[in-house]
Amino acid sequence: MSILMREEYFQVRGRIINGLGKADEVSEEAKRLNVNRVVVVTEKAIQEAGVIENILKSLKNGNIEYIVYNGVHSDPSVKIMDEIARLVKESGAQGLIGVGGGSSLDATKGAAIVCTNGGSIRDYIGENKFKIAPLPLIAIPTTAGTGSEVTWHISVNDTERKLKVTVRSFLCVPEVAILDPNLMVTVPAKVAAFTGMDAFTHAFESYISTKGSWIMTETLALKAMELIAINLRVFVANRQNVEAGENMLIASMMGGMCLSHARTGIIHQMARPLGALFHVPHGLANSMLLPYAMEFSVFANPGKFANVARVMGIKVDGLSEMEAAKATIIAVKELCNDIGLPNKLRDVGVKEELLSQLAEDAMQGRDLFDNPRQGTVEDLIKIYRSAY
Ligand SMILES: [Fe+2]
Repeated sequence: MSILMREEYFQVRGRIINGLGKADEVSEEAKRLNVNRVVVVTEKAIQEAGVIENILKSLKNGNIEYIVYNGVHSDPSVKIMDEIARLVKESGAQGLIGVGGGSSLDATKGAAIVCTNGGSIRDYIGENKFKIAPLPLIAIPTTAGTGSEVTWHISVNDTERKLKVTVRSFLCVPEVAILDPNLMVTVPAKVAAFTGMDAFTHAFESYISTKGSWIMTETLALKAMELIAINLRVFVANRQNVEAGENMLIASMMGGMCLSHARTGIIHQMARPLGALFHVPHGLANSMLLPYAMEFSVFANPGKFANVARVMGIKVDGLSEMEAAKATIIAVKELCNDIGLPNKLRDVGVKEELLSQLAEDAMQGRDLFDNPRQGTVEDLIKIYRSAY
C-alpha cells in the first residue's frame, strides 16, 4: 500500500493477442465480437505497401464483408473521424478494424465513438464526455510507438479551431489489440527510430510521474524500457528482425498502458509545441528533449533514475545512487545516437528566436502533465536552449 495513502488503480479492458502472423487470424476475432461486416481503416501508403493484404484475405476467407477506408493521414481531423463514422453507418458495418500507426488507430477509435453516440467527435472532446460504448473495434498497430491500441485517449486535430485536442475515456480502449511484428517489416528505419523513442518516453515519463504511478505501472514501465534498450537498435538496423519487432510492439503497448494511468511529463509538455510550430515528428521531438529534460528532473527522484540505469543494462555496481542516475542520461544519449537521430533542434528547422514562444506554449499545457520537478517558463527556455 502506498505510504502516501493516495489512490492507486489499474483498469483493464480488451483482449491483447501477440504473435507472428496473428493479424492473419483477424476474422476469428471479428467473429468473437459477433461482427460480420467491417470497415477497415488505414492510410493509403500502408495499403500500397501491401501491409493489409493478409488481413483482407483473412476477412474474405472468414466470410466477413469489408470496405477499406484508406484516407487517414497524420494528425487525423474531426472531419476524417466523422467521415469514417458516416461510412460505417451507410455500409451497415457492425465493427471497425484499424490498421496503422497512432493516426490510423486514433481515427478508428474516434469513429467508433461517433457510430454509437451520434453527432461529431467534436462533441466528445474532454474527459468522459460520451456514455455509450463505441462500436466493436480491433486495433492492429504497424508501428511500435504510441501504444494507441491500448490507450484511453484519442488525439484529434480540430482544424477549424486550429487546436489539437483529446478525447479521453476508459471506453476508448479497443476490444481487441493484435500485435504482429510481420506488419512492421516495411516500416522505414527513421520511423522505427522516432516511434521507438516515443514508446521509451511514455515508459520513462510515466515511471517518474508524480500522479498515478505505482507498482503496476512502474513494473510495466521498467520492463518496457528494458525491452527498448535491448531491441530498439536491432530493430532500427533491420526491421525484418521480427523478434526485435515483437519486443518493440510489446514495449510500446506497455508504455501505452502506463501513460493511460500515470500520464507523461515535461518532455511531452515541451514536445507538443515543437510539433505544432515546426512540425517536428512527435517521437523525434521527445528524443531530442529527453537528455536535457532528464538533467532537469534527475534531482527530484535519483532513485528512480538509477533503477532505469539498471534495466538499461548499465553497470551500476560501485556507483552512488546519483552517479547511477546520471549514467541513465548518458545511456539515453547513446541510444539516440546509435539509432541515427539528430540531437539538436537547430538541425530540424527550429528557429532560435522562437525558443521563448515554445516555452510559453509549453507552459499552457502544464496541467496535463505530471513531472517530478515543476518547471517555470525560464526553466523550459533553458532546456530548449540546451537542446538547440
Ligand atoms: Fe508520445
